[in-house]
Amino acid sequence: MTVFAVYGATGHTGRLVTADLLARGKQVLLSGRDPVALAALGTGPILPAAVDDPAALRALAEAADVIVHCAGPFTVTGLPVATAAVEGGAHYVDHSVEVHPVKLLFDTFQDKAQRAGIAMVPSVSFYGGLGDLLAGASARGIAEIDRVTVAYHVHNWMMTHGAVETAGLLFAGTDRIGYADGEPKYGFVEPRQAVFAFPPPVGPRPMIAPVPFPEAVTVPRHTRTRAVEAQLTTRTFEEDQAFTSEKVDPAARSASEFTIAAQILAGPASTAGYLHGRDLWSAAALASVEAAIRLTEGAAKAGVSSPGEVFDPVEFLSTLAERGAFTLDLPATA
Ligand SMILES: NC(=O)c1ccc[n+]([C@@H]2O[C@H](COP(=O)([O-])OP(=O)(O)OC[C@H]3O[C@@H](n4cnc5c(N)ncnc54)[C@H](OP(=O)(O)O)[C@@H]3O)[C@@H](O)[C@H]2O)c1
Repeated sequence: MTVFAVYGATGHTGRLVTADLLARGKQVLLSGRDPVALAALGTGPILPAAVDDPAALRALAEAADVIVHCAGPFTVTGLPVATAAVEGGAHYVDHSVEVHPVKLLFDTFQDKAQRAGIAMVPSVSFYGGLGDLLAGASARGIAEIDRVTVAYHVHNWMMTHGAVETAGLLFAGTDRIGYADGEPKYGFVEPRQAVFAFPPPVGPRPMIAPVPFPEAVTVPRHTRTRAVEAQLTTRTFEEDQAFTSEKVDPAARSASEFTIAAQILAGPASTAGYLHGRDLWSAAALASVEAAIRLTEGAAKAGVSSPGEVFDPVEFLSTLAERGAFTLDLPATA
């Protein structure tokens, strides 16, 4: 039977991923750094492996057909688990919102993954992955794109410990990666205060622009455009519960509301696609599980690919919408 390793199975995302895999009748193998906490989960066999234990990580990859990497910050955990995946011959998907670990995979794992015959798809998650897929779906059939803006409106986000740590690293970083004038741009960019016009009932919102999410690296892999920028509603981090909810229960944490927009500017024309939903954590987990299942079914060529590059973005998002992750509203041309 196909084995789905969940790395970071003790975390909020790892638990949701495990639950969805089990609901879909899949065989899970739970992993992470804490053997006691893994055993206490009681949801499947365990194989503990710390990120500084390459032999244990390799044993995990050898025992699995695919690793769904849910432990972060990925700035810390990304490289060791990805290395084990290519050495042990397991397909790989992850939840990275940080652009640097994603770029590292594209820059240094392409040949290794091809030689190992495995498919690696980083950032198949809410931030990053859904934006990448929505950009690809919304841009279909449009030539000469000037700019892709992926704008996230998130209300009532209750961050986990892992999310707080990741956000801290993400926004403190000054070695930003952007995409403008048809090429990658490196170096610090002072975030500006922009306004993005979401459709009603959300309406125009002040935005942090840009936010250092992976779209600047992933979208140009499948969509020809001169510029890519990700933005996030300023209010998301100003809301009282954002940084004070590390201990809330999963039911409370599921109360987030979101709209993701992918705006495509081409000359004087503009079009946009949208995802609307509740519980960004669940949407993230469903996306990674759908991707992992597809990789084990041979849906992807060996190598490193972005979600919108390796999957048909309209079909993939439609499948997630049918599974209840969000509602999908694409432009008529898509
Ligand atoms: N892109 C997105 O939209 C998106 C969505 C969901 C999650 N994420 C990312 O996924 C990560 C986890 O998020 P979460 O909400 O599940 O956090 P969480 O509930 O706090 O869980 C964090 C998990 O990571 C593990 N972990 C942390 N540091 C580790 C290390 N150095 N070595 C091994 N394991 C380590 C923890 O293990 P212990 O239990 O042993 O501490 C735990 O399993 C974060 O980086 C977050 O940004 C991204």
